[in-house]
Amino acid sequence: MANISLSFSFILLIAALPWTRTLHAKKTNVQFYFHDTVTGKTPSAIKVAEAPTSAKSSTLFGVLFIIDDPLTEKPDPKSKEVGRAQGLYASAAQQEVGLLMTLTYQFTAGEFNGSSIVIVGKNSVFHKVRELPVVGGTGAFRFARGYALARTYWFNAAGDAIVGYNVTVLH
Ligand SMILES: *[C@@H]1O[C@H](CO)[C@@H](O)[C@H](O)[C@H]1NC(C)=O
Ligand SMILES: *[C@@H]1O[C@H](CO)[C@@H](O)[C@H](O)[C@H]1NC(C)=O
Repeated sequence: MANISLSFSFILLIAALPWTRTLHAKKTNVQFYFHDTVTGKTPSAIKVAEAPTSAKSSTLFGVLFIIDDPLTEKPDPKSKEVGRAQGLYASAAQQEVGLLMTLTYQFTAGEFNGSSIVIVGKNSVFHKVRELPVVGGTGAFRFARGYALARTYWFNAAGDAIVGYNVTVLH
């Protein structure tokens, strides 16, 4: 993956322990594009549940989607696939379109092939930049903590979207 850069090691001191232990954590920045397709014959995001009142809600409050979205290196959907975002998001806000995202971003190419990060947090989709917490990971991203900055690159009225992710993690 061309647009991954590693930066220097950080030293985390865990002072709460009765003795002082030093953990060496690496800081990694990963960038990719997320393709969420709700339309067509093979949508990557499917609605699996909604409340009786959801259809009347301007924010689709109570709707739940399960997704398996491709992650690519560039905004172009045909660019190299570098992973998949799998899990669910739910419309969980009444005053704006705000999703609770609970997703595993599994990398399938490049340096982090086989490793994953987990993001859980609120995504106010009409905000220019959304910050989402990285709460964990596997493989190279064991013990991951960090944040993702998400910016919508493109969307249509039906709800299909391409979102740029800029993720920074200590792991
Ligand atoms: C990623 O890892 C899997 C399992 O080790 C391997 O089969 C696959 O070829 C790798 N993909 C790339 C693009 O390196
Ligand atoms: C990605 O985030 C890092 C850290 O917040 C920042 O330094 C960098 O400029 C960002 N890159 C882009 C393309 O937004």
